[in-house]
Amino acid sequence: MAKYVISEGVPLRGSVRVDGAKNAVLPIIAASLLSESKSIIEEVPDLNDVRIMCDLLRCLGTDVQKQSDPTTISFETKEITNSTAPYELVNKLRASFLVMGPMLARTGYVRVALPGGCPIGSRPVDLHLKGFSALGAEITQGHGYIEARKNKKLVGNKIYLDFPSVGATENIMMAAVMAEGQTIIENAANEPEIVDLASYLNEMGAIVVGAGTDTIRIEGVTSMKGCTHTVIPDRIEAGTFMIAAAITNGEVRIENVVPDHLKPVVAKLKETGLEISEELSAITVKSIGGLKPIDVKTLPYPGFPTDMQAQVTSMLSCIPGTSMVIETIFENRFMHISELKRMGANIKIDGRTAVIEGKPCLTGACVKATDLRAGAALVLAGLAAEGATEISEIQHIDRGYSGFAEKLKSLGAKITRVED
Ligand code: EPU
Repeated sequence: MAKYVISEGVPLRGSVRVDGAKNAVLPIIAASLLSESKSIIEEVPDLNDVRIMCDLLRCLGTDVQKQSDPTTISFETKEITNSTAPYELVNKLRASFLVMGPMLARTGYVRVALPGGCPIGSRPVDLHLKGFSALGAEITQGHGYIEARKNKKLVGNKIYLDFPSVGATENIMMAAVMAEGQTIIENAANEPEIVDLASYLNEMGAIVVGAGTDTIRIEGVTSMKGCTHTVIPDRIEAGTFMIAAAITNGEVRIENVVPDHLKPVVAKLKETGLEISEELSAITVKSIGGLKPIDVKTLPYPGFPTDMQAQVTSMLSCIPGTSMVIETIFENRFMHISELKRMGANIKIDGRTAVIEGKPCLTGACVKATDLRAGAALVLAGLAAEGATEISEIQHIDRGYSGFAEKLKSLGAKITRVED
């Protein structure tokens, strides 16, 4: 297993370009199953999760082709040749459950392995299934698989989500685009990734309005076509580099961002005293030290993203004074904290609240990435620590950050990837 070795912390300086958004491209790839024609997706990040999603589509009958520009991939599903998303793939990538909606819409039958729990929480799929049932699908479960089947047709309906789940909103949108009549999703998630999926679906011929608000209306169409779509920039990768600049007392210009998507992150980081300036598609973060502690609570968009919670916790561990972080989205997303403590952080956890007594500096240590964002948080801590840090199990980080070490090195970080 590969690891990262950071020999010492230094201020990061320079500019870095972020890739297309992982959490936007995964549902978009799944949505390609809705049409027989070819779709071309641009700004696809080079990530393990994307490779698994491509493997899953191949297994269902899609011709997946990399174009001359490696960030452009075409998807063409002339025919669905297999209705089962197998456990081996769903187990590796929970987002593969997102093929359920488009498969149901396209062929009327799909069988998907039930995704298990995952390190950050139990992550049930009840809201996805509630939506499919409301559209008239019959859902059965057994032997570790969920089957969804439409009797004659799917029919639009009003669906209220008990929680604005990102995945459920996406899956139901994809199932509903070819249902008869109108579907209304209430208390829908309004993350930028939902808006990007809606744009893609509309480019494919769907009629989806209201994405980005909590009420999404979908007027069913009879067929979908191929199109060319460019994926939005990854706001979490951008936010991670913002913290890399802050935690190292550096100055970094982050390019290919939509500043509006980072509003909650910018607002909270400014509260610490960081200098942040925004351009049309870039953000510059500058720290001259003397930052102040803050309180952060994760919430559905436009609240502070849970996918930035671990990274901000690393940063607050290095700001003297008392900060508080409350995680409201996932029940078990504090696993980075025991590793941060190995680096000298002083953090107490009480349920979903972490109370951080920040110190001027953490100390390098051997630590382990337990999931994607926890891993990113440990890299950030290592970039600011005194002495060397070794981060193992970095396959988790590879799921969501492409060329992470190279990008950090280009900003001056003393980081090396060591393949065991
Ligand atoms: N939930 C239910 N029932 C459901 C669906 C969700 O109770 O049917 C609960 C979950 O257990 C969780 C909460 O609702 O407590 C939020 O889950 P949500 O469905 O919104 O998350 P997701 O779609 O599974 C996506 C991202 C996550 C990100 C969350 C929240 C993708 C592929 N994944 O997951 O990204 O944390 O939204 O914003 O889009 C990451 O990138 O590191 C990551 C984990």
